[in-house]
Amino acid sequence: MGINVDKMKIVKFPHPVLRQKAKPVDAVTPEIKTLVAKMFELMHEGGKGVGLAAPQVGVSLRIFVTCETQDPKDDRAYINPVLTVQDTVSEDMEEGCLSLPDIRGTIRRPVKLAMDALDIDGQPFHLEDDDYLARIWQHENDHLDGVLIIDRMSLMDRMASKRALKELEDRATVVAPKKKW
Ligand code: CO
Repeated sequence: MGINVDKMKIVKFPHPVLRQKAKPVDAVTPEIKTLVAKMFELMHEGGKGVGLAAPQVGVSLRIFVTCETQDPKDDRAYINPVLTVQDTVSEDMEEGCLSLPDIRGTIRRPVKLAMDALDIDGQPFHLEDDDYLARIWQHENDHLDGVLIIDRMSLMDRMASKRALKELEDRATVVAPKKKW
């Protein structure tokens, strides 16, 4: 596959990889483990991250990591994750994204979810949550489908983000096809 983690960094909007639908992981190889270790490092680097998806480091694979407490002992990797909504109750919460610095928006999402994924050893696991972790799962899972918070936030939040988005677009070195917000 040729994933090089040495110069890996978090890619910012509007990098086109953030809009791709990520592909499933065939096997949890040493290369995948190295990638996941790097993702943990980058998630914690700025001291703000509680989750990071592989497309955010330029790798279009169905992998993400979370750490809802920001304490590395709670680091968890999810390979080929599948989310199931367990209840129709939804709630508003403000979200940010490491690929969209200076942008925040309120997003309504289901509260209670189940997660099935492979861990870093390639073993399947099942988790359920109705708290912050379930919120992070949904945000990171969106990244695997090319969906960003700007697609889900209210029109008002999107308007408020306009300048920050424009600045990110002006700063971009890799440009995605123009999209109208
Ligand atoms: Co994000």
